[in-house]
Amino acid sequence: MEFSIRALTPAQLTGKAKTGCLVLAVLAGETISRSAQAADRAAAGALRRALASGDLGEKPGSTMLLRDVAGLAAKRVLLVRLGERAKYDVTAFRDAVRGAATALKGLGAKDAVFPVADFVVDRRGLPWTVRGTVLGLRETFYRFDQLQTQKKSAAPALASVTLAIAGAPVTLQAQAALKEAVATADGADFARTLGNLPPNLCTPAYLADEARRLAKQFRLGIEVLERRDMEKLGMGALLAVTRGSHQPPKLIVLRYGGAAKKRKPLVLVGKGITFDTGGISLKPAGEMDEMKFDMSGAGSVLGAIRALAGMRAAVNVIGIIPTCENMPGGAATRPGDVVTTLSGQTVEILNTDAEGRLILCDALTYSARFDPEAVVDIATLTGACVIALGHIATGLFANDQKLADEILAAGDDAWDRVWQMPVWEDYQEQLRSNFADMANIGGRPGGSITAACYLARFTRNLRWAHLDVAGTAWRSGREKGSTGRPVPLLVRLALRRAARAG
Ligand code: BES
Ligand code: MN
Ligand code: ZN
Repeated sequence: MEFSIRALTPAQLTGKAKTGCLVLAVLAGETISRSAQAADRAAAGALRRALASGDLGEKPGSTMLLRDVAGLAAKRVLLVRLGERAKYDVTAFRDAVRGAATALKGLGAKDAVFPVADFVVDRRGLPWTVRGTVLGLRETFYRFDQLQTQKKSAAPALASVTLAIAGAPVTLQAQAALKEAVATADGADFARTLGNLPPNLCTPAYLADEARRLAKQFRLGIEVLERRDMEKLGMGALLAVTRGSHQPPKLIVLRYGGAAKKRKPLVLVGKGITFDTGGISLKPAGEMDEMKFDMSGAGSVLGAIRALAGMRAAVNVIGIIPTCENMPGGAATRPGDVVTTLSGQTVEILNTDAEGRLILCDALTYSARFDPEAVVDIATLTGACVIALGHIATGLFANDQKLADEILAAGDDAWDRVWQMPVWEDYQEQLRSNFADMANIGGRPGGSITAACYLARFTRNLRWAHLDVAGTAWRSGREKGSTGRPVPLLVRLALRRAARAG
């Protein structure tokens, strides 16, 4: 889908815009937006008469389609409910964009005009609204049907969307917001597709190949460490996880340098378990297929870097992706095995299903060599995080409150929200082991916190934050599929840091 921004006066919007569909916002009852008022005048009151029918639902996101309205150049008019002005917030905005997008998907219209200014949420501003509109539309139009020989539905007709700014000139800010949003959507789609691909196709080698493809396309630096490299370095924890698998492990390092060389990089570390059976501590059969999404952290790192490189952002970012499978097998790690991590600390592996922290600890230690400004890891780390926060908020853990605050703010800005949890020393004793420096599990109480506390032991000399996306990276049930989160958050974080650095 192509997007563009155009300045259109209300008269142009109604008289000149020969579009397949004009999208118009309606508040509560029959209160209509500025653009809708202009359209209603041009159409001799046809819109208000249509609204008087009561056919447009009151919930934000409800829609009603009108065809061939006399006096308007547009073939169709899509009325979209925003709801009461006083209650209009980000959630209502999201619902409105999604509602409009869902309706547009089912139409034959090839193009549409979206007067974005009518959708602005208080205090968020026009650039924010441009981003939200583009991301909302792209999210709804995303499809993953490459493995279906009989497509469930025809591809949508809509090919281009004009974001109309009534009256006001198109600012550089709005143009920049559009460019950022399109690149972010490309990155999120990329992450979603990697997540949705089945585990027989999306293997560690496949992820490495995709990273190489990105590197070529966007002129990024790339290095892929193989098993023998890991052995030489002494990544005993990562190697312990991969032992039961026939797929060779990889450690991908992808670098995007959009800022001055002297500026320290933001390092993103993504968990890349392409399938998590639990290993010898085998998981139950129900929903085990969803453990193909256990590489979502890795996918989000690749997606975020793709987005930042795609928009030529002035940031230095390095992605580090430890990737392997967690399988049972004759050579697999046993509960009770003790291994030496890259940091030199020893770990008693009491549960082979707590494998994410094992691959991450070696990757986090490795990240120090890039002299990072900050390190953020992204992982589908614990079922306990889903119990704590459900599917709305990503869990945030950090050893630096300033970094945590930046991530909270970026998450709010991108509406890809996170909620902070403690990493207090008091929890550390749950990780004690009689046979090694630490155990890899801390028992049921505070399971996502003790997982973060485990990682904290490998990041003492770094400004570090950890995002547990176990509840937010994918959806289960009928709408099963990757969400692409937290790509929007990561992109916003990197850009906000760049803006602050000047
Ligand atoms: N990948 C899982 C976490 C997970 C489970 C995410 C379910 C989303 C849904 C992780 O590797 C895991 O198995 N964690 C264990 C840790 C436990 C053994 C301490 C868990 O959460 O049960
Ligand atoms: Mn596991
Ligand atoms: Zn896992």
